Amino acid sequence: MADTHAASAVPTLVTSLVRLRPIGADDEATLRAILATPAVSQWWHPPEDGFPFDHEAGTVRWAVELLGPPGPGPAGAVVGMVQAYEGDDPDYDESGIDIFLTPSMHRRGLGRDVVTTVRDWLVDIRGHHLVTIDPAASNTAAIACYTACGFQPVGILHGRERSTDRRGWHDTLLMQYCAWWFDAGSASHRP
Ligand SMILES: CC(C)(COP(=O)(O)OP(=O)(O)OC[C@H]1O[C@@H](n2cnc3c(N)ncnc32)[C@H](O)[C@@H]1OP(=O)(O)O)[C@@H](O)C(=O)NCCC(=O)NCCS
Repeated sequence: MADTHAASAVPTLVTSLVRLRPIGADDEATLRAILATPAVSQWWHPPEDGFPFDHEAGTVRWAVELLGPPGPGPAGAVVGMVQAYEGDDPDYDESGIDIFLTPSMHRRGLGRDVVTTVRDWLVDIRGHHLVTIDPAASNTAAIACYTACGFQPVGILHGRERSTDRRGWHDTLLMQYCAWWFDAGSASHRP
């Protein structure tokens, strides 16, 4: 299990579709615009003043930047943000992922690509064996995406999350990915 927070260093992670890189000041307007789209704002709380640099210790955030053809969209376009969280209690393995992508890029395989990449970074580089995610129980797209990334449902957390309009609370679905389900060191066996 990881023994230090990852927040001090944000590595650049490259897949066949995207580059996950540290967020710069120039990305703020783009990420705020994406968060303001209805397809995203229904699931993410409105950003605070310090966004996207207001994350807690133990959290790292990446800008999701397209690599360009043959993947979707133009090279260099920032199309979302993904974050990873690590707890610091050595007796509990706590790590998690959260993500949003711009609506025009939904259902093109990016979510699966990005979540799988950050999941493997948490497991293979940061040393976690357990990664959890808790999307709203009604967020079928997120649940489908995380399921495609090998996460399995644990159960419903009743009234876990305040609604993005702050008028009430809703259930979330706790999902887990445990590296022990797969052969040690064999990333190719993972979904
Ligand atoms: C959740 C989100 C990141 C998914 O990203 P995506 O790029 O659209 O997902 P992908 O195209 O990689 O799809 C991954 C899998 O989920 C499925 N899926 C995606 N959206 C779906 C939907 N609306 N309904 C049913 N299945 C869906 C895909 O079919 C695919 O399954 P497969 O690999 O078995 O074919 C994206 O919808 C998003 O940013 N939503 C708004 C913000 C949000 O809800 N974030 C999560 C908060 S917990």
